[in-house]
Amino acid sequence: MPGLLGPGQLLALMVLALQPTGTQEAQCPIPSIANGQLSSAENFTQGSTATLQCDPGFVPTASTVRCTSSGRWYPRVPSCVPGQCRHPPSVEFADFQHRREFLVGSTLSYSCRTGFSLIPGVSPTITCLQNFSWSPVPRLCQRVQCSSPVIPHGTEASPRRAEYTSGTQVEFQCDHGYMLRGSDRVQCSSDGMWRPPVPYCDRVCGPPPKITNGQHSGMGLTKFPYGSEVKYSCAEGLSLIGDESLHCTSEDGENLTWSGPAPECRVVRCPRPVVERGRMTPQTFTFPYGLLLHFSCDQGFRLHGAAQSQCLADGAWHPPLPTCQPVLCPQPRVPFGRLKSPLGGRGWYQANETVTLECLPGYQLPNKEVMEMENAWTATCLPDGSWTTLPKCMKEGDGDVCQEVHYIKSTFECGVPVEEVKILLEIQKLLLEINKLEMELEN
Ligand SMILES: *[C@@H]1O[C@H](CO)[C@@H](O)[C@H](O)[C@H]1NC(C)=O
Ligand SMILES: *[C@@H]1O[C@H](CO)[C@@H](O)[C@H](O)[C@H]1NC(C)=O
Ligand SMILES: *[C@@H]1O[C@H](CO)[C@@H](O)[C@H](O)[C@H]1NC(C)=O
Ligand SMILES: *[C@@H]1O[C@H](CO)[C@@H](O)[C@H](O)[C@H]1NC(C)=O
Repeated sequence: MPGLLGPGQLLALMVLALQPTGTQEAQCPIPSIANGQLSSAENFTQGSTATLQCDPGFVPTASTVRCTSSGRWYPRVPSCVPGQCRHPPSVEFADFQHRREFLVGSTLSYSCRTGFSLIPGVSPTITCLQNFSWSPVPRLCQRVQCSSPVIPHGTEASPRRAEYTSGTQVEFQCDHGYMLRGSDRVQCSSDGMWRPPVPYCDRVCGPPPKITNGQHSGMGLTKFPYGSEVKYSCAEGLSLIGDESLHCTSEDGENLTWSGPAPECRVVRCPRPVVERGRMTPQTFTFPYGLLLHFSCDQGFRLHGAAQSQCLADGAWHPPLPTCQPVLCPQPRVPFGRLKSPLGGRGWYQANETVTLECLPGYQLPNKEVMEMENAWTATCLPDGSWTTLPKCMKEGDGDVCQEVHYIKSTFECGVPVEEVKILLEIQKLLLEINKLEMELEN
């Protein structure tokens, strides 16, 4: 046999050397697997199969493996991975947030749909259990409820219910003598509130009294809220006697009533007013109830009584019509003078009447020109009850002095300096002295 081996012989040798000996079988390693373990009825020897058992909640990537003659596991050593739950159960009136996977141990929360609320004491959360099923889920959501509506002095038009779930509509009506304020129909909204808010019943007045031959502005209405007003009117040609309008008010603070009795419609005419020597406004030819007239008198006459009068329900003028009396002048009085005519004199004189006055003996009128009338003075009674200018009687002979006194007085009034007045007075004094001397010489 030659000493050298061919390549084919060498490979055959190597295979022989690697092969276990006939008695020694290949053994696969016992792997340590997280959350599980490999078990086999046989030893982990060549050709045996093993089963992977995972801890609860985990699933094997491959359930059985085989130990190959080379001492390796086939397929490769598997592992235990976390298990998942299936799609969560659907719950009435509730939704949950979708996820890609639902791993064992994870939780999921449901939320109630609009108009529904969580039943008190119930948990909306479920858990993915280790047997890959979901923990049981009870009934979670119920329809939202509104509180039972309360409406004093009113009722629900529909029969009352045990509960008022969202979406329920309720109609209301008020008792007799009350009026609905707000919406007569409300709905339980998804947040548990009544929309619009529950109305209330307000006290009202009934229809106001009817009147014959007239009507009021609230015809056709049956309920009148507090403060409302109705106006009465009469058929054509009739007068409204009383208050034109009534309003709904409260006298006892609780019940509502109309503010007073209704007015009446009657024919009321006052007689044509006659005021001699007088005028009236407005100028009219009919004198119905309520007409207010203003009176005035012709010149030289004075109103006696009220300046205005109204035609009232009894068909009479109130206050009574005035009269126009002639304006009178009182007996004129002149110091140191007296009446010359009419003889004897009278208490009062009518407008345009004249009197003649004269001064008492020893007195005279200042203006010498009037003395043509034998020292008499005529005065006339004016339409306003005063006299034309009355005369002034002064002591005879004092005329000049009087005039000087007047002159001095007016000088003072003009604000002439005192020094100048003094000089003036001195001159006056001298003048008087001279006058006196002249008179003495004449005598
Ligand atoms: C397991 O292996 C041992 C020794 O390696 C052997 O004695 C035994 O018979 C084997 N058991 C089975 C069931 O093959
Ligand atoms: C899963 O486990 C729970 C409690 O451990 C049990 O009530 C339920 O019946 C199990 N589900 C299944 C499908 O086996
Ligand atoms: C209101 O009217 C009712 C019925 O007419 C009556 O019983 C009640 O006493 C009245 N209230 C007052 C405060 O007068
Ligand atoms: C007074 O006289 C005037 C003018 O003559 C006349 O208009 C007036 O009516 C008279 N008055 C009276 C009250 O007689």
